Amino acid sequence: MPVNVLFAATDALWPDYETVLQDAVQAAGVEANLSRDIAPQDVDYIVYAPDSALRDFTPYTRAKAVLNLWAGVEKIAGNPTLTIPLCRMVDPAMTQGMVEWVTGHTLRHHLGIDAHIRNPENLWHPLGPPVAWDRRVTLFGLGELGRACATALKGLGFDVAGWSRTAKSIDGITTYSGSDGFALALARSEIAITLLPDTAATTNLFDAAAFAQMPKGAVLINPGRGPLIDDPALLAALDAGQLSHATLDVFRVEPVPQDHPFWPHPNITITPHIASETRPYYASQTVAENIRRGEAGLPFLHVVDRSLGY
Ligand code: NAP
Ligand code: GLV
Repeated sequence: MPVNVLFAATDALWPDYETVLQDAVQAAGVEANLSRDIAPQDVDYIVYAPDSALRDFTPYTRAKAVLNLWAGVEKIAGNPTLTIPLCRMVDPAMTQGMVEWVTGHTLRHHLGIDAHIRNPENLWHPLGPPVAWDRRVTLFGLGELGRACATALKGLGFDVAGWSRTAKSIDGITTYSGSDGFALALARSEIAITLLPDTAATTNLFDAAAFAQMPKGAVLINPGRGPLIDDPALLAALDAGQLSHATLDVFRVEPVPQDHPFWPHPNITITPHIASETRPYYASQTVAENIRRGEAGLPFLHVVDRSLGY
């Protein structure tokens, strides 16, 4: 009997997944019927994206897991009708994409690329940047993505630290954890990169008090989630020169409304939630592996702890 895999993401995504996901599940050794239309009581696995119309999981009585196509799970983790395992997206292509985006934007600020390219006064030999090991960069969040970015930046020579909920030990990287560690991490963050999930514990973590603890002129780079940032406090910190720039990929409301004060701000860079997209081919391998594991009676990978929200 084939397993029934419901594709419960948006219709627009279906053409991107229809073949590659079917192929990946087959290559994993599982015979599957992949469809957008399966009677709820017959569904074995639910492939899910946050903008799916599916909100009530109650009728999916035999489903073994929800396999999320995104890394972030804030839109589903708290769903009270979901009682089966929820697995989030972890895949090497997503990690690589995030490393590239974070490295690029960190280097832009570290090197002062904007100032040197614009250089309106045609200054010759203006003050250049320090070398990377004299630049203190901090990753807030040391999970799949934060850890990979920290390691890549360390590889480029930066003086890297990281902060997470639980204590970590990473070669060559100074690590902090918990609320005491937060102050220490902020105090050394010439460039702060936020790769934290959106949970009750992280909402508005970067507020006026946090910005005040950072070195004057620090840069904030947020590819994590919009609610990590207290938006009015960010604008005030930029206007006061406490922060020199914010590069933001994620926002409380997406797309960012046209009248949002972030758009015209000279010291804010907006990218349209593209720091690291889910690439269908690679994501399908992760989904297929979890289906294989489910069928083999093995524990699922990347299971969300819904009490923590990530
Ligand atoms: P992850 O593996 O779950 O890592 C999350 C990290 O955040 C962990 O280090 C965790 O600490 C830390 N953390 C969570 N709550 C915390 C708290 N209250 N205080 C301190 N640290 C806390 O997640 P990931 O795969 O790295 O992804 C991180 C986030 O990136 C996702 O949730 C998503 O929002 C965002 N994202 C954005 C894009 C984009 O294109 N912009 C793409 C993918 C993901 P512990 O290690 O101690 O648990
Ligand atoms: C993208 O933002 C994701 O969570 O995968």
